[in-house]
Amino acid sequence: MASITIRNLDDEVKELLRRLAAENNRSMEEQARVMIRAAVDGRIGSGRIDQIEKTLRDLTSMHVAATPVASPAGKTLPQGTLSGRRILLIIGGGIAAYKALDLIRRLRERGAAIRVVMTAAAQEFVTTLSVGALSADHVFTELFDRNDEHDVGHIRLSREADLLVVAPATADLMAKLANGHANDLASTVLLATDKPVLMAPAMNPRMWAHPATRRNRATLGKDGVTFVGPARGEMAESNEAGEGRMAEPLEIAAAVEALLDAGPKPLAGRKIIVTSGPTHEPIDPVRYIANRSSGKQGHAIAAALARLGADVRLVSGPVNIADPAGVKTIHVERAQEMRDAVEQLLPADAAVFVAAVADWRTENSAGEKIKKVAGEGPPVLRMVENPDILAGVGHHSQRPGLVVGFAAETQDLLRNAEAKLAKKGADLIVANDVSHESGIGPSGVMGGDRNKVRIVSKAGVEEWPEMTKDEVAARLATLIAERLKTTVV
Ligand code: CTP
Repeated sequence: MASITIRNLDDEVKELLRRLAAENNRSMEEQARVMIRAAVDGRIGSGRIDQIEKTLRDLTSMHVAATPVASPAGKTLPQGTLSGRRILLIIGGGIAAYKALDLIRRLRERGAAIRVVMTAAAQEFVTTLSVGALSADHVFTELFDRNDEHDVGHIRLSREADLLVVAPATADLMAKLANGHANDLASTVLLATDKPVLMAPAMNPRMWAHPATRRNRATLGKDGVTFVGPARGEMAESNEAGEGRMAEPLEIAAAVEALLDAGPKPLAGRKIIVTSGPTHEPIDPVRYIANRSSGKQGHAIAAALARLGADVRLVSGPVNIADPAGVKTIHVERAQEMRDAVEQLLPADAAVFVAAVADWRTENSAGEKIKKVAGEGPPVLRMVENPDILAGVGHHSQRPGLVVGFAAETQDLLRNAEAKLAKKGADLIVANDVSHESGIGPSGVMGGDRNKVRIVSKAGVEEWPEMTKDEVAARLATLIAERLKTTVV
């Protein structure tokens, strides 16, 4: 799509254009486009087509993606990862709306074509004029605007994009979509789309924590909406801090790249094994010994590595979550099966052991269900140790170039993690605290969606802030890509 370069006009014409644009509440590009269209339609006189053609040629340049963009510091910014992608950005009403301006810039730098819908509330925070100037397109605000020559209709608006991004996603916009409301352009477009939707929530921490918002968040997640953020931190309101800040534009741009599978692929050509989930050790055909691992962190790591281009082989214990997209998943039950599957996958460039493997299994699992026998009391289970899969690979003759383990500890986190690093032959240990203080269960590390880890290596300990498991996964995948860069393929 072509866009108009205003800076090529001389000052007098530019000033005239500026005044006409302001009078019509349009961006200068939009005003120029309306005038050119009128000219082409013949409304400003006939017989001037040569002149019009020349003007069109002077005014029209290729889309911004074709020109390299330099940051103020003179560094060349990431180019073209979203080249040819069409994004419909819906700006909700909130103080974070000002960040949407930077987001438009970041997405266009990457080559995306941006169309913007603004809610009425959003226009209280930023003007259609500045949004239009940055997006180089008309800004859509009304559901029914028969006078607006740009009224392409909500169905077309929502379908002519590869992805819909809602930033900031207010509590109101989330509630509308979660409940199927469609009473303005933004909510109607969201309901009418058949394209993926990414939401970057931003609201007061109490609104984010409200059970209604939690419910809507969960519903939208089940409906396939992807979320980025919100982050913790100071809010715009004084003396307010907590979870509710909109993710930074760069994080949102990275999430867009991930969703469109458009990001850089530093792990292309690398084979990486990941273990995830618990193992189930049978007692008899109906009973087993298990643990509380949900598989969320391991699966997120497999997905993040795949997004960076790796050929990922995920060996998963029994979990209740879906196989990650773009990953070859092998399902196992017992620790011994997990060990066999992993060893068959060697050689590999890296292996990441996230699974919470049962340390012990029953010496002999019964072939038939163990029955209660009157007067005999409960059966005695004799346990034997399971193979340590990480240690086996860490000391294997076909050891991958990079071996990463996890350490779930309830006490002496660092000392135990350092001991595991040496004993198991790992290069990195991702240590997380699963003590009762950090929590186990839906809101804790085991079973929950957040994690706080430290990266332990021979070089020392790196502490990461608390993040979602997806964020930990993305950061770990980047770290693995950096470590593998120095290894020859
Ligand atoms: N691990 C493994 N095979 C096992 C046990 C653990 O591959 N049989 C891996 C885990 O996937 C993890 C790391 O070893 O990457 C540490 O697991 P953890 O349960 O914390 O340690 P354990 O070795 O089981 O030691 P302990 O239970 O005594 O803390």
